Amino acid sequence: MKERPRVITIDGPAGSGKTTVARMLARHLGYGLLESGTLYRALTWLLVTQDPEALSGGDPSRMLRSIQEHLPRFSFELGSEGLRISFGSRRLQEELRLPEVERRVSAVAAIPEVRNLVNDILKRLAGKGPVVAEGRDMGSVVFPEAPYKFFLSASPEVRARRRYLEWRAKGISVSEEEVLRDIKARDERDSSRSTAPLSIPEGARVIDTSQLSPQEVLRVILRELFSSHP
Ligand code: DC
Repeated sequence: MKERPRVITIDGPAGSGKTTVARMLARHLGYGLLESGTLYRALTWLLVTQDPEALSGGDPSRMLRSIQEHLPRFSFELGSEGLRISFGSRRLQEELRLPEVERRVSAVAAIPEVRNLVNDILKRLAGKGPVVAEGRDMGSVVFPEAPYKFFLSASPEVRARRRYLEWRAKGISVSEEEVLRDIKARDERDSSRSTAPLSIPEGARVIDTSQLSPQEVLRVILRELFSSHP
């Protein structure tokens, strides 16, 4: 790494380990951690609490109007532990993992105008300092000029097992088969949507994490960062 890059992107499907690895990398480098999924979750939470009819009606233009109306009440703060999101004086944390948010977020993230809005926020935040940007389209759409891009993958079975163990540790009871079914359905939805489908960004280094621990993935990334000179 000749100079410290302003943006490093890490993309991949659910359960590929990108969130864990992105956090470790941001901490290691002292970078901000830009978790794009958190922004989609925050906007979905906004609709769940402020305009649930917009969600249940499934009308994208009404959802967008509602989001635009309430957007000024949000504040976003970047740190190496992730984004701190507040709505008015309320700090949003567990709210973003509510089952209702979980269920609705992919529909909200499929609206092109919502994606534009989120992408503008991401670019603005990245302008404040160096970041590790994590998500589904960071290297392909939002930061295509990033000098270092990584795409983490793993088999659906391995990803389902990771999610299953995560949820079990949190006391959520689901079967591994159920998680595997959900992961496959989500892969299909995320890769086939018309706007910014999940894909390997041009120039990205693909890392199959199926047989690797997060520490091993981090080591591969650091080796790449410190041995090459883009
Ligand atoms: O990574 P996550 O589970 O917090 O993401 C939440 C949702 O947002 C998920 O359904 C995919 C979507 N998302 C997206 O469409 N594009 C991104 N860059 C990040 C997340």
